[in-house]
Amino acid sequence: QKGGYKHFMLKEIFEQPKVIRDCLAGRIDHASGAVRLPEIEALPVPGRLVIVACGTSSYAGLWGKQIIEKLARVPVDVCIASEFRYADPILAPGDQVLVVSQSGETADTLAGLRLAKERGVPVIGLCNVIGSSVDREADFVLHTQAGPEISVASTKAMCSQMVMLLLLALRYADAKGLLSREDRAACIEGIQAMPKLLDDHLPFMRDTAQRLSRTYSEATSFLYLGRGPAWPLALEGALKLKEISYIHAEGYPAGEMKHGPIALIDPKFPTFAIALADDLFGKVKSNLIEVQARGGRIIALTNPGLDLEVDHPWVLPQVFWPLAGFTALPALQLFAYEIADYLGKDVDQPRNLAKSVTVE
Ligand code: M6R
Repeated sequence: QKGGYKHFMLKEIFEQPKVIRDCLAGRIDHASGAVRLPEIEALPVPGRLVIVACGTSSYAGLWGKQIIEKLARVPVDVCIASEFRYADPILAPGDQVLVVSQSGETADTLAGLRLAKERGVPVIGLCNVIGSSVDREADFVLHTQAGPEISVASTKAMCSQMVMLLLLALRYADAKGLLSREDRAACIEGIQAMPKLLDDHLPFMRDTAQRLSRTYSEATSFLYLGRGPAWPLALEGALKLKEISYIHAEGYPAGEMKHGPIALIDPKFPTFAIALADDLFGKVKSNLIEVQARGGRIIALTNPGLDLEVDHPWVLPQVFWPLAGFTALPALQLFAYEIADYLGKDVDQPRNLAKSVTVE
């Protein structure tokens, strides 16, 4: 069942190239290059998209916000479902709600879906489990094609949600005529090439993760930093580490570090940074210099040729900026996995956690 892997989590991390292929199947018209999302064809581009989700699905939503707003200039709000349901949220004409859930059964997310429907706002479900409550109750449904996810720690589901959010961003950008021909081609060709790229690189990423896990397994706390689309990935990296290794970790937008968390930094409090080749690289780099000035050790996901001196640079292949998350995500997952496994934790069934949170 685990296909020769020691844990479902590892198997599911390595399934991500296939997941991307499956999510893209039939979605891009060969002749015109148009993005095909017939499930939501009847819907106009929203005036505002309100994403409602929990946990990892909410981080996919935060990543989607960055990509949709940058590529398509559609305003996106991301709401944690347990807050949204009791917040008496303001939903205006032109708004659409996008509920993101792997299981389609998360109690708070479902309550958010029902509230939005009561308010008469079109609700799109982005979910993985066919026949689930989100699948049945949403007005429109986009299925992620991740296949069954067994490990409690969500991995490939987030990857699949990101593919669908990217397609949504492209669809909105097309409808508004916003993307240049070059950027559009770079997105589409880049995501189509991603499965092969990951197939080629995942074994090396695992080796790196294994080596680093030995060096950092004694840490009791980690700070994860990123900016822009890498910020939600920092949140996800921290969540993965804490849920399966029980090492405390906090994800922060890198620029916010000096507003408090910097006080924690010392040689025993490492930082895991996402410092990729994008227009925020210089800003992240200067944050990392501040960490080093306080004796903090740093692992940094980075790209070839970038001028960055840290204890452990982890060089990932460079891709067009909206796609960088697809390379960073498995690195973050593998690091958490390798530390947890090295520490002998129950990787697939972490303590106190259930795969699907069906009570509030
Ligand atoms: O099934 P859902 O996507 O609605 O689940 C949401 C969260 O419960 C889930 O992502 C949780 O945070 C995972 N354990 C993260 O790995």
